[in-house]
Amino acid sequence: MPVTIKSSREIALMREAGKRLAEVHTRLRDVIEPGISTKEIDRLGREMIEGMGCIPSFLNYNGYPASICVSVNDEVVHGIPSEDVILQEGDIVSLDAGLIYEGYHADAARTHGVGTVSPQAKQLMNVTRQSFFEGVRFAREGNHLHDISNAIDAYIRRFGYTAVRDLVGHGIGSQLHEDPQIPNFTQRRKGPMLKAGMTLAVEPMINIGRPDVEWLDDDWTVVTEDGTLSAHYENTILITDGEPEIFTLELCEQ
Ligand code: MF3
Ligand code: CO
Repeated sequence: MPVTIKSSREIALMREAGKRLAEVHTRLRDVIEPGISTKEIDRLGREMIEGMGCIPSFLNYNGYPASICVSVNDEVVHGIPSEDVILQEGDIVSLDAGLIYEGYHADAARTHGVGTVSPQAKQLMNVTRQSFFEGVRFAREGNHLHDISNAIDAYIRRFGYTAVRDLVGHGIGSQLHEDPQIPNFTQRRKGPMLKAGMTLAVEPMINIGRPDVEWLDDDWTVVTEDGTLSAHYENTILITDGEPEIFTLELCEQ
């Protein structure tokens, strides 16, 4: 599939989708505290999304059984919410959420600390978030896709971290996953040229230890092979001829 260029109508709908998803993340952030189950986070997230008249895009996607992916500590992504998983002081938790508004998708992830976390965990979360912005500096017309990948990897390596290789970011629009794939680690090739009107989900998944991951028996939950912490940060963005527009940024962060 070629990388699609969105019309101004499509862009307007994706902007609205993004605004709603940013609000979901703002509100979910407030419910993160020791004692909450990951199932309850999913229930609240689904209620928020549906309350906005939107569709939770992850629910039943390839059989995924929830609306919010909740991944704790060494879980990288796609954790399945459970009544039996209770957040504890010092945990880090990644929330990945997606919604559909008027046929268009937004996709975004945040990693939060539960109560007070170790300095190591805090740094991992900050560096992962910052790596997104380091990559997105290069997200403009005329640059190449892998300028984003290379910038993310170069930044996180300065801290001795590694980028997960088995999972990548993606184009997004009327489908959750569109071309191109967006790696978070250094690429030899330049990748496709970026053009105004492309919409991308850029999502670094960063480990303190080795980059290798494995899948749990539930066939969804991705964990680090060495058991070290992993963080995830993702936004849906629009390529323009100048600064990219970040559709899913919380208002307080802009
Ligand atoms: N944000 C993730 C992605 O971009 C989550 C989708 S996987 C799902 O791939 F199955 F849970 F929907
Ligand atoms: Co995504």
